[in-house]
Amino acid sequence: MAQSPAPDRMNETQRKAVGAGVDISRLPAHVAIIMDGNGRWAKSKGMMRLVGHRQGYRTLKDVLLSASKLGVSYLTVYAFSAENWRRPEDEVGGLMKLIEEAARHELKGLIENDVRVRVIGRLDEVPSTLQDALNDLVTKTKQNKGIVFTLAINYGGRREIVDAVRALVSKGAAPEDITEESISAQMYFADAPDPDVILRTAGEMRWSNFLIWQGAYAELCVTDVSWPEFGEDALIQCVLDYQRRDRKFGGLNERE
Ligand code: IPE
Ligand code: IPE
Ligand code: MG
Repeated sequence: MAQSPAPDRMNETQRKAVGAGVDISRLPAHVAIIMDGNGRWAKSKGMMRLVGHRQGYRTLKDVLLSASKLGVSYLTVYAFSAENWRRPEDEVGGLMKLIEEAARHELKGLIENDVRVRVIGRLDEVPSTLQDALNDLVTKTKQNKGIVFTLAINYGGRREIVDAVRALVSKGAAPEDITEESISAQMYFADAPDPDVILRTAGEMRWSNFLIWQGAYAELCVTDVSWPEFGEDALIQCVLDYQRRDRKFGGLNERE
């Protein structure tokens, strides 16, 4: 079993987490986040929705750093869903631009922080300049050994399953070759462990088509805090909440 680092070897984030009651030796390896509430946050302040998305980008920078310092190995975030194209054109365009700007602007810092970036979703449908910026980010951080940071862009869980089955069929799979394992192996991000926790901000109790295959046994953590107001303390609370859960995977615990 993993050992907690000695207090003098912990960083500030870990010390804060331990102070709040987190057991550092039992951290979730993979945290996935549905970053929701940017629009409502902006509206509540009388600002345009895009201002909320911009603030959400700042939150993401902080939360990535906090997750990495805490010792989470994989952080996956839902940045744009396959259904978000239904929003008004200016919001969609603004989001695409913001993601591209962020990808270009953050490259250096991500390399310095040893973050490995990956992207899941149907990238061929996003603007080509955004594709270039994302490909650059993925290629130039490939060798990094720190936290694996996955951006879900134009991502839909059902589509991912469809794409996986199509890939198997195109390889000539027979019906008996279609198994949970063979489908899992075709997922966009097959070598990552399934998310231990799916966190959603801004109170909505739904999945919105995020990691529906991989999240089959994830613990759900919903907070009322909106994404622009989320931060290290709220992340620690979520980890604490996760650690209090009784994960059974369909079985029973020793004492049952
Ligand atoms: C989440 O915030 C960000 C994206 C979907 C890109 P929303 O834009 O959904 O914010 P609300 O839910 O309208 O408040
Ligand atoms: C989910 O949030 C998608 C992202 C966070 C990118 P939405 O705001 O799009 O989800 P719904 O529409 O409330 O289900
Ligand atoms: Mg929303």
